[in-house]
Amino acid sequence: MILPVVAYGDPVLRKIAEPITKDYPNLDALIQNMKDTMYGASGVGLAAPQIGLPIRLFLVDTEPFAEDDEYSKEEQEQLKNFQRTFINAEILQEEGDEWAFNEGCLSIPDVREDVFRQPKVTIKYQDEDFKTHTEVYDGLIARVVQHEYDHIEGILFTDKLSSLKKRLIKGKLANISKGKINADYRMRFPLQKKKR
Ligand code: NI
Repeated sequence: MILPVVAYGDPVLRKIAEPITKDYPNLDALIQNMKDTMYGASGVGLAAPQIGLPIRLFLVDTEPFAEDDEYSKEEQEQLKNFQRTFINAEILQEEGDEWAFNEGCLSIPDVREDVFRQPKVTIKYQDEDFKTHTEVYDGLIARVVQHEYDHIEGILFTDKLSSLKKRLIKGKLANISKGKINADYRMRFPLQKKKR
């Protein structure tokens, strides 16, 4: 089932998300619904706060990047096969010189900006069976994981922009909160006036 994506301005996107246990109600269905929502919106990642739940759960699927000729065959193969569910994730280390990548976010439609992040990340998380893994990612996979991880820490990519860039997109962000935006997937806007 496709769920509405929570738009910029909703306080749930600013909460530090809570860990969950195996007993979390209807977890399998929730994960399936989040997958339906992510794929329905052509996203490469989705975090639970974006569907209104402040819990430490996010999905990543970098397959859509695999078609980009900019990457080597080996990188394309990695991107194609990277699908993960991250539960209770904890970033243990970030390394290397920051690099810029043009990021977007399903909660912030029509805004894309270069964001600087370190290229390598070590993360500990539990999978859908609550098995614990520690993995090291780099490049674009690390990038998407860092973006989604930020969501469970209450951080959005727009927080990481220069004060000039922030000023330039301020009006656009205010419009998104009010629902004055056309997204081609279902959304929920915190400041939208109720229709009579
Ligand atoms: Ni996002």
